[in-house]
Amino acid sequence: PVCTGSTMSLMVVSVACVAPPSPPGGQDKTSLSAQPSAVVPQGGHVTLRCYYRRGLYNFTNFTLYKDDRSHVPVFHSRILQESFLMGPVTPAHAGTYRCRGSYPHSPTEWSALSDPLAIMVTGVHKKPSLLALPGPLVKSGETVILQCSSDTVFEHFFLHREVTFEEPLHLVGELHGGSSQANYSMGPTTSDLPGTYRCYGSITHSPYVLSAPSDPLDIVITGLYEKPSLSAQPGPTVQAGENMTLSCSSQTSFDMYHLSREGEAKELRLPAVSRVNGTFQANFLLGPATHGGTYRCFGSYRDSPYEWSDPSDPLSVSVTGNPSRSWPSPTEPNSKTSIPRHLHVLIGTSVVMILFTIFFFLLHRWCSNKKNAAVMDQEPAGERTVNREDSDEQDPQEVTYAQLDHCVLTQGKITHPSQRPKTPPTDTSVYTELPNAEPRSKVVFYP
Ligand SMILES: *[C@@H]1O[C@H](CO)[C@@H](O)[C@H](O)[C@H]1NC(C)=O
Ligand SMILES: *[C@@H]1O[C@H](CO)[C@@H](O)[C@H](O)[C@H]1NC(C)=O
Ligand SMILES: *[C@@H]1O[C@H](CO)[C@@H](O)[C@H](O)[C@H]1NC(C)=O
Ligand SMILES: *[C@@H]1O[C@H](CO)[C@@H](O)[C@H](O)[C@H]1NC(C)=O
Ligand SMILES: *[C@@H]1O[C@H](CO)[C@@H](O)[C@H](O)[C@H]1NC(C)=O
Repeated sequence: PVCTGSTMSLMVVSVACVAPPSPPGGQDKTSLSAQPSAVVPQGGHVTLRCYYRRGLYNFTNFTLYKDDRSHVPVFHSRILQESFLMGPVTPAHAGTYRCRGSYPHSPTEWSALSDPLAIMVTGVHKKPSLLALPGPLVKSGETVILQCSSDTVFEHFFLHREVTFEEPLHLVGELHGGSSQANYSMGPTTSDLPGTYRCYGSITHSPYVLSAPSDPLDIVITGLYEKPSLSAQPGPTVQAGENMTLSCSSQTSFDMYHLSREGEAKELRLPAVSRVNGTFQANFLLGPATHGGTYRCFGSYRDSPYEWSDPSDPLSVSVTGNPSRSWPSPTEPNSKTSIPRHLHVLIGTSVVMILFTIFFFLLHRWCSNKKNAAVMDQEPAGERTVNREDSDEQDPQEVTYAQLDHCVLTQGKITHPSQRPKTPPTDTSVYTELPNAEPRSKVVFYP
């Protein structure tokens, strides 16, 4: 008991030395708030307020301190009133701030220094990526790992959840070569787990200067209510091109249904409609069938959009018919297939153009070999430098030159169409590139 007593009095003495005494009543703790958020995009604004008694009162007059004052000296000893609008923020504004307020009942008396508040400026480095392991739909009672990673070396990561105002959670980055990663494991009892998450990265010497946010990730808890049922009209097997509707229904008065397809990140959602027979239903029209795959649906309530029912029994949907007539299945990542296809078309077009160029260059040479002097005057200006004396030699430089002048040569093609069949394809190996464009032709020209 003696020991505790002396420690207590020592603490009181040291507090009294560091800060002016605060009025009696421990709840007068000073705090600093940032609105709309302490995480501010570069160029954005943030409003700072100093308050006491757990936010019940705002200090009319207050001063603001930055822990590292090397960048923003302006706040020191300046008296601010009601609030301070800071911005447009730059990386130099990032850091920890504290405030001290003066009480209205005794204006000369200043409060204790508040706890630090970190103002984070985002959008300075490249965004990291955020992933849920094993997935973003978390069965109630199970654990999920949120993994933030980057190909930049970030020593710090911050995990931020939308909806509720919450201070970003600091995670220590683990470095692997030129990349970095941090895991956050969310336990089975976390009732406030669901929501929209983003993560940010930063480097050691300026921890509050953050990257752009990762793409948002919705974490949903499932298994909170009884499962709905899922059925397909006209049936789980349809002809390619036929419309298909998936109906999710339940006796439970859900407000919203979510249809998820195995292997796909985004789910579809529709409001539930109540039927006369006492069920609550939503019909997902999937359009012309392309939709082989396994589907499940979930129900939820308006007030808690991230809390879902158990999944319906899985429904396996298959599409029959001539496979060459069916559209590409949406399970294929579209961005992966369409870009190369687009490239194929581009490459195909270029190859054709270059071929024509070479073709007419060769045609031209063939012609000029035949009637040397006569052709000379009719030639397009761009071809003048072709060395006629070495006309038999296949010089790569000549070919390159011909490509650059393909506009001129293409014009030549139009004016002499009758000469085309005369020339044999001298470079057949180039023609073999043409089938590149074929897969697309198949898709486009099928009825
Ligand atoms: C303090 O300021 C905040 C933000 O404007 C406001 O919502 C709150 O009502 C204020 N508190 C008092 C007691 O005026
Ligand atoms: C706030 O400060 C101003 C001077 O800067 C002073 O006139 C005023 O009385 C102060 N108000 C309070 C409530 O302390
Ligand atoms: C994060 O968790 C995943 C999966 O458990 C694991 O493979 C990875 O090594 C972990 N990374 C870190 C930095 O702990
Ligand atoms: C599919 O549904 C759409 C929208 O209701 C309709 O316009 C279209 O005619 C239907 N197609 C077939 C093949 O039933
Ligand atoms: C309720 O009615 C809807 C159509 O209004 C129907 O699709 C559904 O199967 C019915 N459910 C029951 C349990 O009768």
